Amino acid sequence: MCGIIGVAKRRGNAVAEVLEGLKRLEYRGYDSAGLSVLSGGAIATVKRGGRVSGLEEGAAALSGGVAIGHTRWATHGEPSDQNAHPHTSGAFSIVHNGIIENFAELKAELLADGAEFLSQTDSEVIVKLIDKYYKGDALSAVAKAVERLKGSYALAVLCRDFDGIIAVKYKSPVVVGFSESGVTLCSDVPALPAEVTSVCVPEDGDFAVITAQSARFYNSSLTPVMRVRRPVFLDQFNSGLGCYAHYMIKEIHETQRTVRETCEGFFRTVDVKRLSEYVRGADRIIMTGCGTAYNAGLAARRFFSDRCGVFCQVEIASELRYFPPRVTPATLVLAISQSGETADTVEAVQELKKAGARVVAVTNCGYSAITRVAHMVVPVCAGAEVCVAATKSYTGQLAALYLISKLSCDVFDAQSELLSVCPRIGEVVKGAERAKEIAALCAQSKAVFFLGRGIDYAVAVEASLKLKEVSYVFSDGYPAGELKHGTLALVDENTLSVFVICDEALAEKCLNAASQIASRKGKVAVITCLDGVAEKLKGTATVWKIPDSPLNLSPFSSAVALQLVAYHAAIILGRDPDKPRNLAKSVTVE
Ligand code: M6R
Repeated sequence: MCGIIGVAKRRGNAVAEVLEGLKRLEYRGYDSAGLSVLSGGAIATVKRGGRVSGLEEGAAALSGGVAIGHTRWATHGEPSDQNAHPHTSGAFSIVHNGIIENFAELKAELLADGAEFLSQTDSEVIVKLIDKYYKGDALSAVAKAVERLKGSYALAVLCRDFDGIIAVKYKSPVVVGFSESGVTLCSDVPALPAEVTSVCVPEDGDFAVITAQSARFYNSSLTPVMRVRRPVFLDQFNSGLGCYAHYMIKEIHETQRTVRETCEGFFRTVDVKRLSEYVRGADRIIMTGCGTAYNAGLAARRFFSDRCGVFCQVEIASELRYFPPRVTPATLVLAISQSGETADTVEAVQELKKAGARVVAVTNCGYSAITRVAHMVVPVCAGAEVCVAATKSYTGQLAALYLISKLSCDVFDAQSELLSVCPRIGEVVKGAERAKEIAALCAQSKAVFFLGRGIDYAVAVEASLKLKEVSYVFSDGYPAGELKHGTLALVDENTLSVFVICDEALAEKCLNAASQIASRKGKVAVITCLDGVAEKLKGTATVWKIPDSPLNLSPFSSAVALQLVAYHAAIILGRDPDKPRNLAKSVTVE
């Protein structure tokens, strides 16, 4: 949440590069944006409430070789021009991602010293502290200031007396990228410019002193330290919208490629022998994550119960962190996270690792915090996912978890089974007309309920999350058997109930529930891969028949169908599906 960037260029204007970087970082927050540039020993700043595009006019007149920028997801203080970053004081300008937990007491102290504050943010205390401690050595002033901070911070600091950037990392992400034209620091790898060829990932407590020529790293006692520089290939991350109107629909169309590349990445990069020892030797498997990542675990639990015969549970990471189950060295924790930076997930698995469990990260971001906690990483190869709503990364997580689950059986079968989902997904994405029809029903309803049983229930929960976040229509996802235990009271002609019916053994029960709703004048829609459902519900429901599928592989196509429904509902209602209100893609605060 919040994106920061800093650029030190050998030649040319860093402002344009910061603006481009902020556009790539907007998925981390889009309440307000700003930048500062150093030129001729002076710092100029432009900042605004609203999106990065609102900065362009003000930034056009600015130039300089060193600049920092910020895109905000508000935590303290409303989204406004004043609360936008950078914050400045004396010789300094800073951008901050994180939360300063003790800002109120620091602010009181600084106010008593006579400091004046222009914003309601927690971040402004940082620049005031740096300024207070500055006696001609910027690095020492920054180090003294951060000694006073409690919380999390990724900081980029400009000082008018130093031709570079000082960065600090503690619990919030920062990477440093190197290219022919200079050095760029950034909240995460996918937002780096395409010409970056190598990256260093600072550790918690590190300082980085960045100039156009180099980056030097220091630990928290300001002792110089080496940080490994690794090659990166960024072209795949920066492919833009192409012929699509939104990233959400583009990324849904990239699902088949994600499944194929996740499968290929699994066999190319994972130590399959060691991972299968973990799976076969596990006394239980705990899957954890937040939001869509948690929902992927919910669906994947069915893969494990069918295949492994090992007890498998799925836990919401923000709960697990405070109520950890007992684990042993044989407990396998699968930490699911697209960004690999979700604070709740990272902290939860840190706790379980400390308690002795084995941690395997299932993530789309190879340089992320979760990869540094895990004993092993299983890659989700979705490429950059720009839309805040997770689509292709969900299906990629399902693919990775499916392969892991099969390690207790014949893993070579798993590969061809998994790849068989691709043509079915291809058929589903061609079904835009059906998706639009159900989307129109969603858009007209005051509430939408998604129902299913077994693995279909897991898909229903994810479908509900997708619809509510991109269309703002109230929705809930729950097991169809629960309908008569309470939720039926909500059904009337203004509600829509969407059933996911891919489990033949439970289909009749779902059809009965659908009839109970229809007889109470509730609208009904169905996504099914089973033949005969449309005939049975003729006249009472809108049915989208998707291609036949083995049960455990059905979420790959039913979930994509429901992502399309959510997308079209957002479009019908005039929402921006890529940047839903109040949300950000990487949730790096608790
Ligand atoms: O990066 P992560 O997978 O850890 O993110 C977890 C959730 O914040 C995320 O899945 C969120 O629920 C989705 N963006 C919703 O579409």
